[in-house]
Formats: sequence, structure tokens, C-alpha cells
Amino acid sequence: MNADGRTRLDQTPEWTALAKHREELGNLRLREVFAAHPDRGTAYTLRVGDLYIDYSKHLVTDDTLRLLRELAVATDVFGLRDAMFRGERINTTEDRAVLHTALRAPRDAVIEVDGENVVPGVHAVLDRMAAFADRVRSGEWTGHTGKRIRTVVNIGIGGSDLGPAMAYEALRAFTDRDLTVRFVSNVDGSDLHEALRDLDPAETLFIIASKTFTTIETITNATSARTWLLNALDGGEAAVAKHFVALSTNAEKVADFGIDTANMFEFWDWVGGRYSYDSAIGLSLMIAIGPDRFREMLDGFHLVDDHFRTAPAESNVPLLLGLLGVWYGNFLGAQSHAVLPYSHYLSKFTAYLQQLDMESNGKYVGRDGREVQWQTGPVVWGTPGTNGQHAYYQLIHQGTKLIPADFIGFAEPVAELSDALKAQHDLLMANFFAQTQALAFGKTPDEVRAEGVPEELVPHKTFKGDHPTTTILARELTPSVLGQLVALYEHKVFVQGAIWNIDSFDQWGVELGKVLAKRVEPALTEGADVPGLDASSRALVATYRELRGR
Ligand code: F6P
Repeated sequence: MNADGRTRLDQTPEWTALAKHREELGNLRLREVFAAHPDRGTAYTLRVGDLYIDYSKHLVTDDTLRLLRELAVATDVFGLRDAMFRGERINTTEDRAVLHTALRAPRDAVIEVDGENVVPGVHAVLDRMAAFADRVRSGEWTGHTGKRIRTVVNIGIGGSDLGPAMAYEALRAFTDRDLTVRFVSNVDGSDLHEALRDLDPAETLFIIASKTFTTIETITNATSARTWLLNALDGGEAAVAKHFVALSTNAEKVADFGIDTANMFEFWDWVGGRYSYDSAIGLSLMIAIGPDRFREMLDGFHLVDDHFRTAPAESNVPLLLGLLGVWYGNFLGAQSHAVLPYSHYLSKFTAYLQQLDMESNGKYVGRDGREVQWQTGPVVWGTPGTNGQHAYYQLIHQGTKLIPADFIGFAEPVAELSDALKAQHDLLMANFFAQTQALAFGKTPDEVRAEGVPEELVPHKTFKGDHPTTTILARELTPSVLGQLVALYEHKVFVQGAIWNIDSFDQWGVELGKVLAKRVEPALTEGADVPGLDASSRALVATYRELRGR
């Protein structure tokens, strides 16, 4: 029994049934499963919005899926889902509602937090963002010297960086090519240096993105950016007002920093950082793609929100993806999950998902305050295909680890490619389809021998197969499709957190490092004594100071 009165997850009959089922299933061979069920390639598919999801190449049977759904029922995933959509304070350790779904709700929706409908406020901010974005895009908003803004520099970190940076890359083809957006996140000064070195301050707009407006990296970079600007442009606060805007929940800190709160776009404490790029945090993206495209993206999010909220368990895609992850992580021993987009535009998608998934579900303490006795969130990793094929796919194909993977691809290349480059798309996608085929079905020793391979090389050229994958296919990477994809993963992460009985919306695990960094910094700069510093860190600090000639 858990401290909250629930039966411990791994002692529920549904969990036990899954463990037993796993024993009985043994090593499922996908070749045999497909031979026995020739319609599996179409039967094990779902559609949501513009996304076609093929889960046929998973190590599951109808029974597995039924038992997993029973686990979802037993852990009340849909009850928690409904509480989230209703605006209840399901982020219990921070006592907050979790309402990123309200950020993409239509204007006439009613979603209440503490009795107040939050939707009008969401749209008021979106409208202000749109008006501002239009002014920058049209050249009506000028810098202090009257020059048009050519470069937008978003300074933020974590959720205040990864989302807009990922989406800017993803939607490059939809951006105004006369405007460039750069993203600075790292407190390593070289990040800001490289971003600014070829820029004209008079044409540069800084967006300081920080939910709390206390994050040391962001405030440090923002302060340096302000100095850079003021060194180049006379004008003090008047110049700052034309070149700095803030995205935050914390008006007081924004004002303390010296940004006029008239130039602040707000969001709310019920938006988690890693769930925030469809809030004001997306301003840089909105400037790049324009308000209409941004709204199309929000509609894509909303479409999947509605699906997650209303689709029955059998056809609920985020539920399915979440359950498959539970199957591999908790019953087949997988430690990681690869996300492999076959679109260069999605080059930052997996990095974005790392925060979404790992900061949400990287927890060993349950909602009841006790240490959980089961595996929680996986290591999420991956880069775009086909590059990964020439790097780490060897390990996925022939290594000793079970690595479930998502393959994401598109039927159409982006419209602006030349015909010659568009012609490469079939080759890209041939690789996309070939990889999941090879991973699932492999190559038997007999097939290898039939090619005349010498006997001593047969084991090396054999592919065992049975490496599970989900294929997500859409016609084109549009703003709406991007929104659909992100919402899909958001809700997948939600499903898993609900089953594991952890709070997916706090992130206390990042705090200790921040506190220690503050304590150690004076030791580096001034050689100050840090009481209680361990022997290893003490020696490292001393060596660092020596190397820096201090
Ligand atoms: O330290 C982790 C974190 O709090 C993330 O959750 C968040 O996205 C990031 O820092 C940035 O926070 P902020 O937007 O408040 O600067």
C-alpha cells in the first residue's frame, strides 16, 4: 500500500498480470507475428489529425495492449487527465494547476483556475504578441536609431529556449527570411559572443525569456547583452525600451531588471517551463513565422488535446505511446528511448523532448512522498536520420540493449526546395522505411548464407531483428503538424507520469546544482573557502585556479 492509500503500483493485479504475461510471451518474434497476422501492418495503426501512427512493429500482442490499458484504468490515468483539463492543482508539490492545454484553447472555451476563466487572458496576450510581432515584421517597430529590426536574439534557457529554438528550426520554411532569430542559452560567454559578434546593435531586438526571471544564466546573459547594446548606442533606458522585451510570469523582477513592463508579455504559474513554448515564450517564433502560422500551430496542439481528452482508450494515441513506453521500461528492461526524425528541420526536436520527458518523469519519489519501486522515465536521445545511421544505429541493430525508437517522417519535402533537392526526398524516405524494416525483421543466418557470405562472417552479418519502433508519418511538416507532434509527446509523458504515480510537473532535481554553483563561484573567483567542500571538488577548484594563473 502507498502512503496515499493506493495499492503500490507493482502490487496491483494489473501490474502482476502484465509481469506474468511478459513471462508467457517469451521472446516475441516479429517475423512470426506478421506471418500469423498478415493484416497487422494496417490493423496496428491509428490516425490523429494529420498523423498516421504505425505501432505494428512493437513486441506486443492484443493481450499485451489490453493488459496495458487495464493498468491505465487501474491507475486512473483518465481521472488525472480530466483533473488536469479542469484546472485542478495536480502539480501537488508546487500546489499548481497544470494548464498548458489552456494556451491553445479556442477563444470561447471556459477553463477555470480558482473560479476564474483563464482563456480570455490567454487570448489577450496572444493578441498583444500578434500586434507586436506584426510591428516587428513590417518594420514599423524600429530600434533606438530608427533602423528596422533584422535580428531577434532570444535569451533564455531550458523551457524558455528549447521550445522556441526547436520550433524555429522546424518551421524555417515558414519564416520571414529577412529576419533572423538566434537563441542564446548557455552562461558560457562564448554563446552570447558568437550570437552577437556580427550583429548591428541598432538592428537587434533582445527577447529575455524567463518564467521566473531569476534564472542565473538568463539574467547574466541579459545583463551582458544590455551592456553590449548600451556601449554601442547612446540612449540609456530609452534605448533599452526599444531593444528589450521580456517574457515572464514575474513583472516585479522584469521591472527590477530595467525592462518596462509595457514591453512584457506575461504567462502564468500554471504553465510549466517545458510546456511553455506555445505561451508568450513563443514570441520569437511568432515574429519569425507570423501570428497566423503561430495560431495554426496552436490549433494543431488543440486538436491533439481534444483527441487525448475524448478518444476511447483503444484509439487514444498518447495513451498508446505512453503504455508502450511502460511496457518496455517496466517489463522488458529498456533504459532509453530513441526519437529519430527523418527531417533535418526537426534537428532540435529530440533535444526539446529530452527536457519535456526527462525533466518531467526523471523522478524516484512518488506523489505520496515515498521512493518508487519501479523504473520511471527513460533516457531520451536521438538525432535526425539519415545521419544517425552512420553513427550509432549499429548499436541499435546489433548491440545488446533494447532501444525502442520513434521514427518520424514526412511524405512531402518542404515546398521551397529546388526540384533537384526535392528529388532527394524519396531517398531519405527509402532509408526511413528501410530502417524500421531492418530493425523489426532483421536478416537470418540462412539469408546471409544465401548471399554467399563465408561461414565465419555469417554471425557478424546476421541481424536478429525484433527491435521495436513506432512510425509517425505525416504529409508535410506544417505549423499545425508540429503542434500535433508536440502535444502528442506532452500527453504521452503525462500518461507515463500518471501510471508511475509521480508528479510530472515539478523539477526539484535541478535545484541542488544551482545552490552549489552559487556556493562554489566565490572559491573560483576569489579563492574563498567553501566550508564543507569535498576533497575531490576542493582539489579540482585548486587546479582550476592554478590553470587560470590565480
Ligand atoms: O532549472 C530548470 C528550469 O526551471 C526549467 O524547468 C525551466 O524551463 C528553466 O529552468 C528556465 O527557467 P526560467 O524560464 O524561469 O528562466
